[in-house]
Amino acid sequence: PYRNQSMSKKPIRVAITGAAGNIGYALLFRIASGQMFGPDQPVALNLIEIEPGMNALRGVAMELDDCAFPLLTEIVQTSDLNVGFKDVNWALLVGSVPRKQGMERADLLGINGKIFVGQGKAINDNAAADVRILVVGNPCNTNCLIAQKHAPKIPAERWFAMTRLDENRAKTQLAQKASVPVKDIANLCVWGNHSPTMFPDFYNAKISGKPALDVIGDETWLKDTFVPKVGKRGAEIIAARGASSAASAANAVVDTVVSLTTKTAPSEFHSVCVLSSGEYGVPEGIITSLPIKSDGEKWEVVKGVQLTDYAKEQIAKSNQELLDEREMALAAL
Ligand code: NAD
Ligand code: LMR
Repeated sequence: PYRNQSMSKKPIRVAITGAAGNIGYALLFRIASGQMFGPDQPVALNLIEIEPGMNALRGVAMELDDCAFPLLTEIVQTSDLNVGFKDVNWALLVGSVPRKQGMERADLLGINGKIFVGQGKAINDNAAADVRILVVGNPCNTNCLIAQKHAPKIPAERWFAMTRLDENRAKTQLAQKASVPVKDIANLCVWGNHSPTMFPDFYNAKISGKPALDVIGDETWLKDTFVPKVGKRGAEIIAARGASSAASAANAVVDTVVSLTTKTAPSEFHSVCVLSSGEYGVPEGIITSLPIKSDGEKWEVVKGVQLTDYAKEQIAKSNQELLDEREMALAAL
């Protein structure tokens, strides 16, 4: 039942899997409050959980009710994927097992990979014609590829996986090193896989409009401290918090969707994993992180970013890892 029927715009229907989990708890309230789609855009939330999570989900839905968000028109709670993905315009695939200390994200492929087969099919069969999908559950790049391969009706350019958290982490590291506000950092593209092999491209990053390398003046720090710091930040959080990043991950989900649905500032770009069609010599057919800009409706890979030989080498290693993950996933499924 629609609670706020007087609003003139049609609600955007958003499915969130793993809605009762840690990221879900940090994400739903931001969507319902208008931070993802804007202050005059109604939203309907399709909250998807597995059976053991349904009771907790009921509690989360009660809390959403208790916020009395004017933009929230409907809450669906379900463990049935066909119900959960019915008519959705966005599917945020968060639900899956997070890694524990000592694991790499790729270790989750055997546990989580199969989840994305059923979800891909259910999205294919039920979602709205304009559906767009963002995969967060790890290993997010390869999980996204698995879901995409099981959804033949959905155009390839509608599939995304998340490296925006890595971009945000990288921006803060540079800002702190240069002692400037984080808003002064731009053009920071993370390339490749959401794994320790990712390459946060400091060569093209700008600090207050100047090349980051000139401002920092220490290429050794950038290569040997900054790059691994960003790549291993997820593990650092797990070690400190005893659980994987959740609020910052939810924040990056909001940022990713906002960046894909609003016009990107001139000369800026953002990191999003998309299905490669060979840009910048990246192998075709992997979900890999590239510099993306949007006109508010359509996105494109930014052209003309100059890559140093070192950058090309790092990006190639990360993409080789994605080719290996793809092979493992296809063999297992
Ligand atoms: P969590 O364990 O707190 O919550 C996950 C939720 O998903 C649980 O409520 C669980 O019941 C549910 N779930 C499990 N399988 C499901 C399925 N098949 N369908 C629907 N729901 C299902 O975990 P979390 O901290 O919210 O993290 C979720 C995922 O996000 C993990 O895989 C984590 O590694 C990943 N993650 C990715 C990024 C990124 O930058 N890409 C950042 C942080 C976390
Ligand atoms: C992160 O980057 O924080 C997440 O992918 C969680 C993890 O396992 O590192």
